[in-house]
Amino acid sequence: MSTPLVHTLVVTAHADPRSLTHHIATEVGRTAGGWGTVEIADLATQGFDPRFSAEDRATYLGLGDIPADVASEQARLDRATDVVLVFPVYWWSMPALLKGWIDRVFINGWAFDHDPSKGIRPQLGKLTTHVVPVAASDQGLYDRHGYEKAMRTQIEHGLVEYCGSPLGVSTFVYDSEDPSGDLRTNRVGRVLGELEAEYQRRYGPLDHVMTPAES
Ligand SMILES: Cc1cc2nc3c(=O)[nH]c(=O)nc-3n(C[C@H](O)[C@H](O)[C@H](O)COP(=O)(O)O)c2cc1C
Repeated sequence: MSTPLVHTLVVTAHADPRSLTHHIATEVGRTAGGWGTVEIADLATQGFDPRFSAEDRATYLGLGDIPADVASEQARLDRATDVVLVFPVYWWSMPALLKGWIDRVFINGWAFDHDPSKGIRPQLGKLTTHVVPVAASDQGLYDRHGYEKAMRTQIEHGLVEYCGSPLGVSTFVYDSEDPSGDLRTNRVGRVLGELEAEYQRRYGPLDHVMTPAES
């Protein structure tokens, strides 16, 4: 029996290809490649401009076309069943590069519509979002200060739910600067295991996934 076509877009924002963040993004891409097709959006390498420009502002006001670099990111997301955001935590939040990608790409008229009589109408119901923040501090510190809760509220509720995207795996990787190789491997393995369980729950057995030619 075939599972539906699964196409994963892995989005990452880190300047160093040797970072743990990149390592996790690469492993997620490699693993998800066994369940369907994969595209990697490496925002640092591709030189995505995160600045919300006058052109973006005009689009927001309904006075201009969507900028080409934004439209191509939306097209990538339109092709995906799943998007996995893998990013380092900077100041208890996401890096400016990823924040700017969201500011510019998840816009009204695409991620959601605003209807004066009915309010916000979410548009991303067909795209499952997975979230993997990579943090140098330990979980105890996040719990004591409420940082994980704050980030979950902002990302899961304020972004993912706001746009109507089903939330998939949302899991923090802590102690990212711990040099222990075993801990590194275990943490990456945990993320991959959680994703596999979630994909299986959504798409059924992953042993045979339709390629575009089969679908
Ligand atoms: C500008 C900056 C801000 C950071 N802020 C935090 C933070 O608020 N909390 C945290 O746990 N780690 C913080 N870190 C550490 C990064 O999260 C850490 O570098 C990252 O988890 C991942 O390791 P990697 O760079 O090898 O991918 C920060 C790092 C930088 C460069």
